[in-house]
Amino acid sequence: MSTCFNYKEMFSLDGKTALITGGARGLGKEIATALAQMGSRIVLADVDAKLVEEAASEIASMGVKALGLRMDVTNESEVQHAIRQCEEMFGALDVVVNNAGIVDRVGIEDMSLERWNRLMSINLTGVFLVSKHSARSMITHGVSGSIINMASMSGMIVNVPMEQAAYNTSKAAVIMLTKSCAMEWAEYGIRVNAIAPGYMKTDMTGPDFEPGGVYHHLLEQIPMRRLGLPRELGGLAVWLASEASSYVTGATIPIDGGYTLP
Ligand SMILES: NC(=O)c1ccc[n+]([C@@H]2O[C@H](COP(=O)([O-])OP(=O)(O)OC[C@H]3O[C@@H](n4cnc5c(N)ncnc54)[C@H](O)[C@@H]3O)[C@@H](O)[C@H]2O)c1
Repeated sequence: MSTCFNYKEMFSLDGKTALITGGARGLGKEIATALAQMGSRIVLADVDAKLVEEAASEIASMGVKALGLRMDVTNESEVQHAIRQCEEMFGALDVVVNNAGIVDRVGIEDMSLERWNRLMSINLTGVFLVSKHSARSMITHGVSGSIINMASMSGMIVNVPMEQAAYNTSKAAVIMLTKSCAMEWAEYGIRVNAIAPGYMKTDMTGPDFEPGGVYHHLLEQIPMRRLGLPRELGGLAVWLASEASSYVTGATIPIDGGYTLP
């Protein structure tokens, strides 16, 4: 008979510190809430200084330690500074969620180089910079941490009829960066995985998918015929952040109601 593991304990994030970029609102804030409920200290880092402070206060009211920082993921010295602040406040980082991202919809022939570069610098270079300095911190402190990247189903398929080539390309690159980081940092016990959400019901996207909305007809393309709820990402984030996924690295997990199946 095998030893009886405490599976509840494996999902616990008690005593851990998690940094979530773009955590002031939307999916990042929801993931931060899930990690906080499982016991993690939370650092939210976002370009929106006011909103990130409000979000951190909300998380702190749940009874966990929380800090909101203004940080632009595209600015290397701001990233380094924020990670130093996390270390000073809470010690070594255990979990990093690279969530900050933007979408920009325009036909390729009409896309300016400036718009292309801006999207790439946030969605891809930002993930590189935050991962680089987080992994350095984890290696220095001997932490076998977990890095979770927000990719998208759009890194695997082309959404029809949306013209969002830069976004799709950036998310495909995040999936490959996830695998590359996982390979390089496996020797330190640092795991790197990605979540690939489908259409999620956020405050901003939700109304477009309601009857009469511009994207309502797209529900037909989703085998489950509905949008995902932000809270449906929380469980996956907790699993990836915790010991419960200790042998999983380099994976990209779709959470898309079956959209990428055909
Ligand atoms: N909403 C969806 O349906 C969906 C689907 C698939 C993937 N995603 C991905 O999930 C992530 C979050 O999406 P969301 O819908 O919650 O977006 P959102 O726009 O609601 O939130 C993004 C947050 O990132 C912050 N941010 C933007 N640029 C930043 C920068 N340079 N540095 C730091 N923070 C910055 C914003 O201020 C904002 O708080 C993104 O990476 C997105 O591509 C979203």
